[in-house]
Amino acid sequence: MEFPAADAMSQDPSKVLRSAAAELHDGVAQDLFAASMEVEDLTRAGGLPPGVGDQLARIASNLHKSSLQLRGVLTGMFEGNLDRRGDTVVERIRSCVERALHRSDLTIDIRLEGTGPEPDPDCADLIVRSVREGLANVVKHADATEVLVIMRRGTSWWTVMVEDDGLGDATVVRHMIVKSAGLTLGLASLAAEADRLGGRLWLSSAGRLSGVNLSISVPVRVVSSDAG
Ligand SMILES: Nc1ncnc2c1ncn2[C@@H]1O[C@H](COP(=O)(O)OP(=O)(O)O)[C@@H](O)[C@H]1O
Ligand SMILES: [Mg+2]
Repeated sequence: MEFPAADAMSQDPSKVLRSAAAELHDGVAQDLFAASMEVEDLTRAGGLPPGVGDQLARIASNLHKSSLQLRGVLTGMFEGNLDRRGDTVVERIRSCVERALHRSDLTIDIRLEGTGPEPDPDCADLIVRSVREGLANVVKHADATEVLVIMRRGTSWWTVMVEDDGLGDATVVRHMIVKSAGLTLGLASLAAEADRLGGRLWLSSAGRLSGVNLSISVPVRVVSSDAG
């Protein structure tokens, strides 16, 4: 395999990264997906020795998961920071949901409650990042089929929840966050940012669905134009 030539290295690095991501997306991710389909076909062939069918089904499922995971990472890379600060939080969340739908077999519902004002840009960014991370976690870890994203837009607090019907256990996830404190794991960094902004992150199993419920609340400090 050839290493990118010097002229490629001198290009805009994000451009090089995006084109590498696009190439892997159409190549490796596609091949993994095709392989998962082929192996799945094999499981349906008759006359397999005992146990082999189950083993093939596991291989097919792992290949399928890997292809989705790789596609997710790569889509994120070549889309860059698609959700722009000019859009409303709800618009940005809708685009996160659309991308998650694109790279998974999940059913995702969005529920909007309240009509409070837009939070300041840092809080808005945290809310959007939380939904993106929450959905990525469901795709990666939950083995879920259904997700509910709830936005509560109050006048002094906004809360966003991402809950799934997967196999995860909120107590275990909480434990992992504590253990990973200081490392750059997704949820730990969201919790730290929520703290910094005077908000909070919590995990529970008490949602409408049976899996993990990730919630983030941030105070709404309206950026008022007549303040100064
Ligand atoms: N929705 C979920 N369902 C099941 N497990 C989860 C879920 N979200 C997070 N987890 C578990 O919590 C861990 C920590 O998540 P996170 O901080 O986002 O790190 P990462 O996704 O990089 O592993 C994950 O590795 C996973 O084991
Ligand atoms: Mg994560």
